[in-house]
Amino acid sequence: PSIEFAPDTKRNLIVVSNRLPLSVKRNEDGSYQACVSSGGLVTSLSGLTKTTSFRWFGWPGLSPTEPSEREEIRRSLAAHNAMPVFLDEKLAQAHYNGFSNSILWPTLHYQSGVAFDDEPWKAYIKVNEIFADYITDAAQNGELIWVHDYHLMLLPQMVRERMLRKGKSACIGFSLHTPFPAGEALRVLPVAKELLQGMLSSTLVGFHTDDYKLNFTESCQNLLGAQPQDSTILYKDRLVRVGRFTVGIDPEKFTETLKVDQVQSRIEQLGERYKGVKLILGVDRLDYIKGLTQKLHGYEQFLTDYPNWQGKIVLIQVAVPSREDVREYQDLETQISCQVGKINGRFGKPEYSPIIYLHRSIPFTELAALYSVADICLLTSHRDGMNLVAFEYVACQEQRNGVLVLSEFAGASAFMGKGAVQFHPANIKEISQSIHKALLMSKEERKERYDMLRHFVDTNTSTRWGQTFVEELSKGAV
Ligand code: ADP
Ligand code: F6P
Repeated sequence: PSIEFAPDTKRNLIVVSNRLPLSVKRNEDGSYQACVSSGGLVTSLSGLTKTTSFRWFGWPGLSPTEPSEREEIRRSLAAHNAMPVFLDEKLAQAHYNGFSNSILWPTLHYQSGVAFDDEPWKAYIKVNEIFADYITDAAQNGELIWVHDYHLMLLPQMVRERMLRKGKSACIGFSLHTPFPAGEALRVLPVAKELLQGMLSSTLVGFHTDDYKLNFTESCQNLLGAQPQDSTILYKDRLVRVGRFTVGIDPEKFTETLKVDQVQSRIEQLGERYKGVKLILGVDRLDYIKGLTQKLHGYEQFLTDYPNWQGKIVLIQVAVPSREDVREYQDLETQISCQVGKINGRFGKPEYSPIIYLHRSIPFTELAALYSVADICLLTSHRDGMNLVAFEYVACQEQRNGVLVLSEFAGASAFMGKGAVQFHPANIKEISQSIHKALLMSKEERKERYDMLRHFVDTNTSTRWGQTFVEELSKGAV
């Protein structure tokens, strides 16, 4: 094992992810507008911005070819320390929609029947190469480079090779924001070995749960013949460190937002509107991993099993549009709209809709108000790297001590399982019973569970996650 550089915690930091904290969109008049991106990755990294400055490289969301347009995008992002990696439109689509979201994402989430295709794979390699060129040009000798997520699994290897060629030392961290599946599920991907080798070129690899870390370690051993030793993996004369780093949110951001007058008025307004009614809240990207069809089935089952609740309970489901160019996501939207219509048609009355379905992104203040007024937060993921919505709900429930009803397959269940009401997301009857259990739970039990959850959310913040990872990374190779 080689020592790659001397530890130095004061080094600069480069963060790389496919998605930037701001996505650039083009207005009808041709001007550009930067909008805050949604998703767990952006939420996690926003905590680190509180204590650490870093340059953030990523794809800006569109690919103009005119140098002046690129310059305009570059300038608008520079104000946020974000650096655009420009990609040709067709290539970006094949990388993001083609390989990352149609092949890799379903495999990482145990979806069966994923068809491998060589063309998107080539685009994936090419985009990782383009990112590697940008990063190698930008990185100073010994600068810390922290790569994020499944879109860039080959990047550590490509950056390491390029940095070495340029005589620069490389200290590369990689964090995965999705589950890492068991070996048999990963093995169906013909390029599994290449992806593992890419990640293993890091100095430190981080996962959200111990299970994901174990799955990765076992695959490295079984597919590459790498040798695990405690929290390291020996591969081709390099010792790679592997760890679980518990990601979180910035709870203060929510508690502060809830104090704002406008948010307080909104909470009162919603309280008035839903007087005498129990509210269940769901907030999910519109993604099949979130188990939205099961959630709706479970809720329909609940209204059937416990008819006394009809008219006295409402499910508010926020479904944030996501990856709308991928067919599976389009089909899912159609299916969810139909299901919502069917349930509202079956149980609704002129003065009552059992489901309020919001298929759009909502402002942060509205999100916080909804978290605060909901009696139950229902999250039904089949698989989910962590699920930060669970954390955010808890951060907003100081007053009400609402109940988190959480799928045992969300990564968050590994930490919040005791405080939440847990269920198997494929068991419709159990979803119905879990809602009922949450509704009948005594105030004392709610408080006891809430205190446990709150302690976890307040302790494991996004800032702590970011700092811990960077500190570990800056120790370098063992
Ligand atoms: P995923 O990473 O799969 O999207 P998570 O539950 O971990 O799932 O994270 C979702 C994140 O997206 C949460 O932090 C949530 O607050 C955020 N989010 C949800 N709706 C919006 C929105 N309209 N605008 C910005 N962020 C949003
Ligand atoms: O949870 C996985 C993840 O890729 C996050 O990293 C990201 O924030 C979220 O899904 C949203 O994905 P996308 O970048 O495709 O909108």
